[in-house]
Amino acid sequence: MRLTRREILRLVALGAVSTALDSAGAEEQKPNLRQLGADKRLAIGSAFSTNELNPDDESLFRHELSRITPENELKMTAIRPTRETFDFARADAIADFARRGGLEMRGHALIWNNDRQPSWLATLSEAEMRSAIEEHIERTIGRYGGRIAVWDVINEPVGTVAFGPYMLRDGPFVQRLGPDYIAFAFRAARAVAPVAKLVLNETHTERDDRFGRDYRRHLLYIIDRLQDTGVPLDGIGLQGHLQPDKPFDPDEFGAFLDEIARRKLFIEITELDVNDASFPDDIAARDQAVAATYRRFLRTALANPAVRSLSFWQLGDGASWYFAQSVDESPSGQRRPRPLLYDADMRPKLAFDAVADELRRMPERPRA
Ligand code: XIL
Repeated sequence: MRLTRREILRLVALGAVSTALDSAGAEEQKPNLRQLGADKRLAIGSAFSTNELNPDDESLFRHELSRITPENELKMTAIRPTRETFDFARADAIADFARRGGLEMRGHALIWNNDRQPSWLATLSEAEMRSAIEEHIERTIGRYGGRIAVWDVINEPVGTVAFGPYMLRDGPFVQRLGPDYIAFAFRAARAVAPVAKLVLNETHTERDDRFGRDYRRHLLYIIDRLQDTGVPLDGIGLQGHLQPDKPFDPDEFGAFLDEIARRKLFIEITELDVNDASFPDDIAARDQAVAATYRRFLRTALANPAVRSLSFWQLGDGASWYFAQSVDESPSGQRRPRPLLYDADMRPKLAFDAVADELRRMPERPRA
């Protein structure tokens, strides 16, 4: 009998088998990523959403990971339907699961300056915007402060619009406050979270075309200005939505990680996945190319001991944001995205083995 990992984990959850995967025979024996990470002090995580609050999915996340990131449930779009109201129901449901499962939870994300923000933000004056940011941060950290040790205070600040010497992503916060919205949010977070780790999370930094190089430069510029003015910043999140149709230069990316580490900041890889749109239709060939993309990126990223956690943007292909955005045109579904470590039936793919190998190869992280 060949069981999918999901079926095995269900048996484990039911107590029908006592040890995770051993009972299913050699074929199914896979290391678990959490343990491979823990051996070298690297936390392993993934995005998780309320759609996955069911015994099958929950047991896979518990088995494989030490932390989860609510995919959308802590964002302003989810918890701030209006300026006056907070709706924490879905975020609470995830926090309860994390507690039951003994998982840490990452706080993603307090302030995200893009165009997908609640529309009421656009109506605020500068003074109202400042108090809205403070109130949002106070209430959100206040609710989960004891349970969330790391917060993405600012998500994706860098962009293509010039604000003085800064190049930033446009959106309601920068429109009202200019580049100071970043420092302001970090200070507001520190005021209510004296010990939590405060992170700035950014995308595209691994690309080695002009766009990616600009992103790295502008991000370092922001970091330097924050540090010059004593803003409480503890770490940098690099999302890692890998785009294999764009160039990647391991030396350049490695040097960029060194630049961050030199500034005494820790690094987290926060949203790793592989956009496989440019890869061949053939599934075996595609899975190999996806696995090779993970391998190449992680070989560089994990070599730097300042990188202290690795999170994927979901575990199974069926839950990926790329999958949700895709249209299944072929009768076999062959062109559906396969960006993650497990397929849509939760069977581990070559990408899983590639990640496990890289976790075994990486150097140990220093003690905190
Ligand atoms: C994505 C979610 O996965 C989608 O479900 C949602 O529709 C849009 O946001 N960078 C981030 C994440 O920081 O929050 C984004 O998540 C993916 C890109």
